[in-house]
Amino acid sequence: MVECDPEWPRAVSIQLALIIGIVALIPVGFLVRKRFRDAPHPFPVDIAGQYDLNEVGRRYLAFRAEHKGREDGRSSSRFILSHLSAGADRALVDVGCGGGDELVAYRELGFATAQGVECSEVMAAAARQRLGDASAIHAGSWSSIPFADDSQDYLVGRASLHYEEDLDQAYREAARVLKPGGMLIVVVGHPDNTANRGTVSRGGRRYVQLKLFQDRVPVTYPLHTVDDYLSPTFAEHFELVERQDIGQTKPNKLAIAARTR
Ligand SMILES: C[S@@+](CC[C@H](N)C(=O)[O-])C[C@H]1O[C@@H](n2cnc3c(N)ncnc32)[C@H](O)[C@@H]1O
Repeated sequence: MVECDPEWPRAVSIQLALIIGIVALIPVGFLVRKRFRDAPHPFPVDIAGQYDLNEVGRRYLAFRAEHKGREDGRSSSRFILSHLSAGADRALVDVGCGGGDELVAYRELGFATAQGVECSEVMAAAARQRLGDASAIHAGSWSSIPFADDSQDYLVGRASLHYEEDLDQAYREAARVLKPGGMLIVVVGHPDNTANRGTVSRGGRRYVQLKLFQDRVPVTYPLHTVDDYLSPTFAEHFELVERQDIGQTKPNKLAIAARTR
C-alpha cells in the first residue's frame, strides 16, 4: 500500500496560492505603472527654465543620445537643412539649441558663424562642452535673442519655439535680428497633435503636458494653435516660404520656413 505524506496537500496548496497571488499581481503592477505614467507632473514655475528643474535637461540629453537618428528627429532636421544655404559671409543662430547636436551639424556646413541661444543652464553647459567653444552659446530665448539688429541670415529652432509663451514677441525679435531677406526656420510640436493630449490651465491659458522619450521626460508648454503660429504679427514681418505638416499617419510636427519682408 502507498503511504500518503500528510504534509503533501498543504505544501501543494501553499505553492498554488503563491502562484495565483503572483499571477494576480501582474495586472495590478501594470495598472500602477500606467497610473504613474499618466499622472500629471508638477507645473514648472518657469516654462523657459524648466530644463533646469527636476533633472529634465539631464534626462532629455541622455535619451536624445540614445534615440539619435530616429525618423521623426531626422525629418525635422531635414526640413531645416533643406532651407539652408551656407557661405563664408552668412551667419546662423540656433535658438533653443539644447545640447548643441544640431549646431555641430550647421557648423560643418561652412557658415561664417553658427551660434546657439539657450535659456537653460544645463542645456547651455552641455552645448558648450559639445562644441568645445563656450563663446558660441549665449543666454537668451525666442523672446529675447541676444544679437544686434540686422545681424543674422538664418534663425533656426528645432522643437524650441513651442515653449515660447509670446509667439508674437518672438516674431518681432526674429525680424529685428535677421538681415533683410533673412530666414526663420522652425519645427514645433504640431498643435493638432498636442491638442489631443493632456492639457492644464494656468493663469487663464492652456498648457500641454507630455512626456518625451516613451514617457520618461516630462515637459510643459503653452498650447498654441496653427493660427497662433501664422499670426498677423508673423505675416506682418515674414513671407511664408514653406509650411509642412510632418507625420506618417497624422501630423505631429509643424515646420515653417519664412523670409523677412
Ligand atoms: C526639446 S529641446 C530641443 C533642443 C534642440 N533644439 C534639439 O533639437 O535637440 C527644447 C529646448 O528649447 C529650450 N527652450 C525652452 N523655452 C525656450 C524659449 N522660450 N526660447 C528658446 N528656447 C527655449 C529648452 O531649454 C530646450 O533646450
